[in-house]
Amino acid sequence: MSWDTVNLEWDGEIATITVDRPDRLNAMNTETLDALEAALGEAKDEGARVLILTGAGDKAFVAGADISFMKDLSVADGQAYAEQGHRVTDLLEEFPAPVIAAINGYAFGGGCELALACDLRVASERAVLGQTEIDLGIIPGWGGTQRLSRLVGDELARRLVFFGERVDAQDANEMGLVGEVVAHDQLSSRVMEMAKELEAKPKFAMQAAKESLNQVHEMTLDSGLTYERRIWSSLFGTDDQREGMTAFVEKRDPDFE
Ligand code: COA
Repeated sequence: MSWDTVNLEWDGEIATITVDRPDRLNAMNTETLDALEAALGEAKDEGARVLILTGAGDKAFVAGADISFMKDLSVADGQAYAEQGHRVTDLLEEFPAPVIAAINGYAFGGGCELALACDLRVASERAVLGQTEIDLGIIPGWGGTQRLSRLVGDELARRLVFFGERVDAQDANEMGLVGEVVAHDQLSSRVMEMAKELEAKPKFAMQAAKESLNQVHEMTLDSGLTYERRIWSSLFGTDDQREGMTAFVEKRDPDFE
């Protein structure tokens, strides 16, 4: 399936969504956001067990929101654009399966925020990341002021947002902004290797794990623990729970649905 600036491809039950606007370094205008929203909906409806998000071309993951488009926006237009961006980041965060950002190059502003909304981030050694909006006279508007500090801590988030610093993959890894850095030509194969491993895991348990982990920033500890207990016990009696535990007892590998 493909839209003008976004492609959705399948390898088994692994969906890969590629933002495909390389002449603009995959910058996100409204058409691209619409297409990304549609592609995420399609991947979800088709039951993807893992989703990979990446950018087309050799230079950029997503170089941000489209500055040429934003330049003359009114407050009302800006609000609509922010809401559109938030719809997409919410879809990534709430996607009912693990989402891996394969950061193949520049990830600035809205591009960094797309990566922040994914579950896992793997970067090419060529990647450069940053919440660079301050130098455009604005601030991160697709979740960066909220998700960044949850990932790297308050002090580092303030430094990145205040200075608009552009950090290379190695530094991003050291500050916890990305989980892993690999050679540029190894990025796709490494991310696919991770995706294949996740694809073979039990689907409903994986979805439950993500849902429960997502509550960390939504609930008090007490409510989160209650949520975990409820979702944990709901997995008993599922085919995958029976198979996983029976396989252990029978000393064989599990064969999940
Ligand atoms: N919005 C709109 N267009 C963008 C863009 C963005 N966020 N980022 C890059 N482009 C466009 C450039 O204007 C250029 O268009 P042109 O060929 O018509 O001149 C094209 O993409 C290629 O970019 P260019 O700047 O020539 O490439 P580069 O390799 O010299 O530099 C960057 C790459 C990413 C360092 C630089 O483009 C940049 O700083 N982009 C803005 C990043 C940013 O602030 N993003 C946050 C937005 S919220």
